[in-house]
Amino acid sequence: MIGIFDSGVGGMTVARAVEQFLPGYPILYLGDIARTPYGTKSADTIVEYSRRNVRFLLERGATLIVIACNTASSVATEILRREFATPIFEVISPAVAEAAQASVSGRIGVIGTGATVRSAMYEKLLRQARPGCRVFQKACPLLVPLVEEGWLNRQETKMIVRRYLHPLKDQRIDTLVLGCTHYPLLASLIQPRIGKKTRLIDSSLAAASFLKKTLNDNATLAQSLNIGGENRFFVTDRTESVQKIAETIFHRPMTLDLV
Ligand code: DGL
Repeated sequence: MIGIFDSGVGGMTVARAVEQFLPGYPILYLGDIARTPYGTKSADTIVEYSRRNVRFLLERGATLIVIACNTASSVATEILRREFATPIFEVISPAVAEAAQASVSGRIGVIGTGATVRSAMYEKLLRQARPGCRVFQKACPLLVPLVEEGWLNRQETKMIVRRYLHPLKDQRIDTLVLGCTHYPLLASLIQPRIGKKTRLIDSSLAAASFLKKTLNDNATLAQSLNIGGENRFFVTDRTESVQKIAETIFHRPMTLDLV
């Protein structure tokens, strides 16, 4: 089974993309709603929560882990890979590879949580993938609560998005990485505000597409995932807004099991 975890519901954008790109592969999802957001926490805390999430998924039969959270991917991936023998995928490298290739001018913007931006992981990997590129990062801490409040198309959200994107627009970026699992839900607000010529890179889609390619190239790994079986979605807390966002992402009624 493919074990996917996130600090909350945002990672369901990754789970949904995995479901679409790899139909038939069973998914075990864990959204750590009780401890969300991770983006405002220290690296040590994010690593500890991530470690517990991996253990939970492994105990329930996951044989491959996807860290469907940019914040956890940026600070915990290396440590988790050292501690667990199971293959661990993250959402940052696939988005970096796509952005490095898509950008014509080499002027690339990244938006994410405070912890993701502080880790500078996107910047580091983009410079490796595309030497000489200029990376402009912007933490957008208000966007996660706005998405979780369901304010996807409110005037206030549009104003805040414009305010956050302003410095990136000034830098004439031609590519913008949506470096947070919640931001794909705001893509239709972000695109007109950053300008239609700027290419948006959705880290959720990039991660699912990378996983698909890896499984196509690695039959042993693909077989270890036992095609067939039911997808399960676990959450560490269940609220009405979580239920609503989950159903917005999946476009269908969702059963979320409380753990
Ligand atoms: N899932 C987180 C991310 O992708 C956003 C929410 C949080 O801060 O926990 O960075």
